[in-house]
Amino acid sequence: MKIARITGFGCYVPDKVLTNQDLEQMVDTNDEWIVSRTGIQERHISSQEQASSDLALISATNALNDAGLCADDIDLIVVGTTSPDMLFPSTGCILQAKLGVPTTAVCLDVSAACSGMMYALEVANNMLRAGAYRKALVVGVDTLTKFSDFTDRNTCILFGDGAATFVLEMDTDKDGFDVVGLKLSSDGNCADLLKIPGCGSRNPASQDVIDKRLQYITMDGQAVYKHAVNSMSGISKAVLEESGLGLDDISLLIPHQANIRIIKSVGKKLKLSSDKVFINLEKYGNTSSASVGIALREAFDTNRIKHGDNIVMTTFGAGFTTAGGVLRYIKN
Ligand code: UT7
Repeated sequence: MKIARITGFGCYVPDKVLTNQDLEQMVDTNDEWIVSRTGIQERHISSQEQASSDLALISATNALNDAGLCADDIDLIVVGTTSPDMLFPSTGCILQAKLGVPTTAVCLDVSAACSGMMYALEVANNMLRAGAYRKALVVGVDTLTKFSDFTDRNTCILFGDGAATFVLEMDTDKDGFDVVGLKLSSDGNCADLLKIPGCGSRNPASQDVIDKRLQYITMDGQAVYKHAVNSMSGISKAVLEESGLGLDDISLLIPHQANIRIIKSVGKKLKLSSDKVFINLEKYGNTSSASVGIALREAFDTNRIKHGDNIVMTTFGAGFTTAGGVLRYIKN
């Protein structure tokens, strides 16, 4: 089967920065605890006026420019997000109108929390390879600070907002990342361990929901931590094997940026030296679906990627959802 290629990629984080020192003024925490337990120093937060589609718009515009395309060229948008502008319409449709993508295009959202961008990539990749679409925008965007309880020190220190977009094309000789392999898995038995319980159909918005603070993220941090390490290392090995590659073939690991201790443990399980594990969460915190897209852009911009490199991306999020992907960078 033919392989699709990421021919352009862009990202965006809001201007406003929330530092650990700022959080010290809000909850009973301190910079030393946050840095030593998570690696995070600061994160970017969206303004009251900025919704996920606003962040996605800037990342998508950057990605289109990078690919040398315009909105007219796009026939598919898949947005991975769990903080959509609203329950419906989809953020994909909202983004379509903002960008001016033709109404002949198909636009949809995929809900896989922190694995959102990888799940969206799998959906778009298969729709392109099946032959019905030619040029897709794959977006990972989340504004989880809007769903963070800034009275709960267990969760509010973790998240930041951001967006990333890949342009995915078939039949192209442009420079880019070939999607060599993708593998996903889901475990709904763990759904209760990381969730936003309120404001869906289970607990519709009400004064009671607000009083119980059910509109915010709740998490069993330690359980999520353990699953994250095992799932991301396991799926990375599996997708490498399915791609006919081994651990020695990894040029750079781009793991979901949730916690530096999780990232280091995954690197260790994959027997990778620290220079082969990309980390940028100190500046952004956990940007959920956007995290690996932002990291890929930054790794590229800091010359960490060269022709022929095999990049392994891996994510873990609520669901639980896990993803692993092998991308190979091709420069003509
Ligand atoms: O993208 C997927 C989503 N999320 C994740 O991947 C997150 C996975 N989990 C984690 O990253 C970690 O479990 C956390 C960073 C959330 C927590 O780290 P931990 O090492 O598992 O800490 P803990 O929950 O075991 O808490 C240790 C102590 C507790 O105090 P006691 O009971 O020992 O007295 C907490 O109350 O640290 C306390 N604590 C804090 N102290 C200062 C918890 N949060 C804070 C805080 N500041 N912000």
